[in-house]
Amino acid sequence: MAIERTLSIIKPNAVVKHNIGAIIQRLEAANFKIVATKMIKLNQEQAEGFYAEHKGKPFFDALIDFMLSAPVVVLVLESESAITAYREIMGATNPVDAARGTLRADYGEAHVTFNGVHGSDSPESAAREIAYFFSDNEVNSY
Ligand code: PPS
Repeated sequence: MAIERTLSIIKPNAVVKHNIGAIIQRLEAANFKIVATKMIKLNQEQAEGFYAEHKGKPFFDALIDFMLSAPVVVLVLESESAITAYREIMGATNPVDAARGTLRADYGEAHVTFNGVHGSDSPESAAREIAYFFSDNEVNSY
């Protein structure tokens, strides 16, 4: 198994409900090393660029409005097989379908838009998404 990095976003609903710390605690307890993090109030261009692959889908405008509604916390997580490992602890995209004990079950609302956290879905998207928010010298090794 290889050491990988993946991008995590703690979304606006989890931020406004004061769940940043609880989510980070869960990530560290699950052995993810946090190698970069920042809080950002996304603007329209940043949000639309990040979710460009979904442009034109019926949920796109609502997703962008939600992502602009409050700050987000973006993190780079590092671990063995980080991309798959993080998707497992996030749970299904729709919190209604997410397994008990997953982040989306615990910190998402009962609607797919307000699912609490985002994670990269492939090595290619992880590379793109990490570079979208962080320059190389903002991602640490320790
Ligand atoms: S899809 O349908 O295959 O494109 O879905 P997926 O790649 O899993 O990610 C979809 C992201 O868009 C957000 N979103 C929705 N998805 C599906 N249906 C609806 N109605 C919807 N509304 C919002 C969903 O939360 C995913 O966001 P991320 O940040 O990737 O979790």
